[in-house]
Amino acid sequence: MEIIQPAVQPERAPRKASEPLDAYLSKMGNNLVTKFHVLMRISQIYDSKNVALKQFTQESLQAINALIQQAGALSLKVVKNDLYLNEQRLRYSVEGFTSFKYLITQWRKRRIGEIFFKGLVTEEILKEVIYLLMNLEEGGEENATLFNDELARRDILMIEASPLETFEGEEDGTALRKEDQREVGKKVFFETVGTIKEIITKIKGKQQADVRKLKRLAQKAVHLVMEDESILLGMTTIKNYDEYTFNHSVNVSIYSLAIGRHLGFSKRILTELGITALLHDIGKAKIPRETLNKPGPLNGEEWNLMKKHSLMGVEIVLNLKQLGEVNPRMVIGIFDHHLKNDPSGYPKLFRKKEMGLFGQIIQIADAYDAMTTPRIYKKVPYTPEQALAVMLKEKDGQFDPLLLKIFIGLVGIFPIGSLALLDTREVGIVCKPNLDPQWMDRPQVLLVARDAKGFVKKEVVDLTEKDGNDRFKRSVVKTLDPNKYHIDIGKYFL
Ligand SMILES: [Fe+2]
Ligand SMILES: [Fe+2]
Repeated sequence: MEIIQPAVQPERAPRKASEPLDAYLSKMGNNLVTKFHVLMRISQIYDSKNVALKQFTQESLQAINALIQQAGALSLKVVKNDLYLNEQRLRYSVEGFTSFKYLITQWRKRRIGEIFFKGLVTEEILKEVIYLLMNLEEGGEENATLFNDELARRDILMIEASPLETFEGEEDGTALRKEDQREVGKKVFFETVGTIKEIITKIKGKQQADVRKLKRLAQKAVHLVMEDESILLGMTTIKNYDEYTFNHSVNVSIYSLAIGRHLGFSKRILTELGITALLHDIGKAKIPRETLNKPGPLNGEEWNLMKKHSLMGVEIVLNLKQLGEVNPRMVIGIFDHHLKNDPSGYPKLFRKKEMGLFGQIIQIADAYDAMTTPRIYKKVPYTPEQALAVMLKEKDGQFDPLLLKIFIGLVGIFPIGSLALLDTREVGIVCKPNLDPQWMDRPQVLLVARDAKGFVKKEVVDLTEKDGNDRFKRSVVKTLDPNKYHIDIGKYFL
């Protein structure tokens, strides 16, 4: 019997002393999942003898072996809709979303819950593993045993699969319904960011942009916001510094939808509002990237160009073929979104014009998102609470007072994404506001805590909970600035 020895040395990606272990594992894990995803897909196209496979196998191999070398063994496990790397839940990056989804879906379909690597792997072994895995019949309850038997037949003993674990309620779908909605929320969010990016790129390249997908996504978002707005509101805390315009458009749309819902808009009007908000800054596609991302203040000429983005947006939207019938309120919404009652507003008009409702809603959503997102010229953003305070202080007429009140009501006095210090000395992130006006200061909070092994726990507590003596178990003492504590709030919502 020939023992296959690893031929490829693992990629050297040593952990820097300053890098915490879970951050390092998370980075390596994201890399591994992306590589695994590509390999699984490629295996569906080429047979295992194809030379094209070599490069992809090599890349995955380096990722796997680096991790095995680091920890001695490697366990990749699917639990519900999450992936665990050596027992630590992997949070995916914005770019990694598709790969995570693909891997989890494919394993679940084949009833495989875990693949455990006990030692370094060779190219041949990895190929065998991938082809065996992908050739398993969907839904086969004995797949893990079959897989292990096949590996044993090939003398590959350092790899072992375990069946997918099912959880209570998973079969009848009740317990996971909420969890599923959260998954749908993530999917809609990331797909919309990607679609906006595609549209802007097309417009920049003077090509036709297909907006049918955007319409479908806006409809899905409306549906989600009607069911439980906190799911999408939580996603707005993912502040992607590099892809500001895309994330910003999606966030503004989520806030606008939530306001529209509280105003009692119909589904049709909400969809129109959602699309308008998604496209509110589309005119920026005509502004050079250097101007948009300029670290310092804009010069006169640049500023004049910048101020044209609302008008240029109108022009673009009117030319979008697949948008179908464009209601005037959508176009007006885009035109209005920087109009103000003072000279700082634009475009300049000869005659004073009342702002339309869409424009007023988008303006509030726009200001809040811009203030709470780090930008190239302002790396430390306002906390949610500070941003609301600034907006409240704006002199009359800047924001419609009623709409602002609704907005504050729906993000809460401790808005979603706020970091809060509790009287139990625990620290938590507000994840769902309490909509009962009496208990606005008692939202649901995700505790920022680590277990004995140092891994992040995921415990949500409700601040209306009382102890045996009819006293509240926990209350907010004050909010903290996450930037000071180096906490990346968005990651907790993934
Ligand atoms: Fe704008
Ligand atoms: Fe904007």
